[in-house]
Amino acid sequence: MAKDVIIALDFNTAKETLAFLENFQSFHPFVKIGMELFYAEGPEMVRELKQRGYHIFLDLKLHDIPNTVRKSMRVLAGLGVDICNLHAAGTTAMMRAAMEGLQEGCQNRPRPPLVAGTQLTSTCEDPMHSELLIPNTMPETVTHYASNAHSAGLDGVVCSPLEAGMVKSACGTDFMTITPGIRFADSATDDQSRITTPARAREIGSDYIVVGRPITQAPDPVAAYQRCRREFLGIE
Ligand code: C5P
Repeated sequence: MAKDVIIALDFNTAKETLAFLENFQSFHPFVKIGMELFYAEGPEMVRELKQRGYHIFLDLKLHDIPNTVRKSMRVLAGLGVDICNLHAAGTTAMMRAAMEGLQEGCQNRPRPPLVAGTQLTSTCEDPMHSELLIPNTMPETVTHYASNAHSAGLDGVVCSPLEAGMVKSACGTDFMTITPGIRFADSATDDQSRITTPARAREIGSDYIVVGRPITQAPDPVAAYQRCRREFLGIE
């Protein structure tokens, strides 16, 4: 399976996003459009970046009743993104409905991979037990959600890089693991919790790492991106 670094474009204007990407002229990195940018600029931002030749992970984390998710996925399919997602907590019925909607919306075009968020990488075990009332350990919970996604016919999950290996063991090596919660050994943790470095993410089994602030807030974002790729892909 392809391995790559996905830059989280967590900006709130098209202007700032395009100015950031200007730095990367010769690279065309794989990018992620999440809620902040999508809510600010809408589907036009997705179309603009697709037109410019970027691969896009559309990270909108759908979570609603199956009928709503099915119809929303059918609409999102029209944007021609390269990966899209939802929350596994919406149940296998919701995930199956999402897959049907995506297939319907793609008609004769190839369907992009659909992946499920398990537990956010900002969540640690304590609030999961005390607030979400999930009594199991984090690895058990993530692996169980991944198995649900697998049996619903999804292509992979979003999880912490620390859990990528156990997800692969439970669901097979072809089951995609996309992992935020990436930090260089010398960068700030911010609000993330279940984190590791790009090199360790590769060793454990991530297929794609999602990296935001360590690249977007770096004094030299291109150098930070290149460092991330080197460490993740094991290039000397
Ligand atoms: O800046 P940072 O590297 O922490 O950004 C991580 C990105 O990945 C953010 O855009 C966040 O929304 C996203 N994400 C995450 N944890 C998940 C799913 C998505 O951090 N489980």
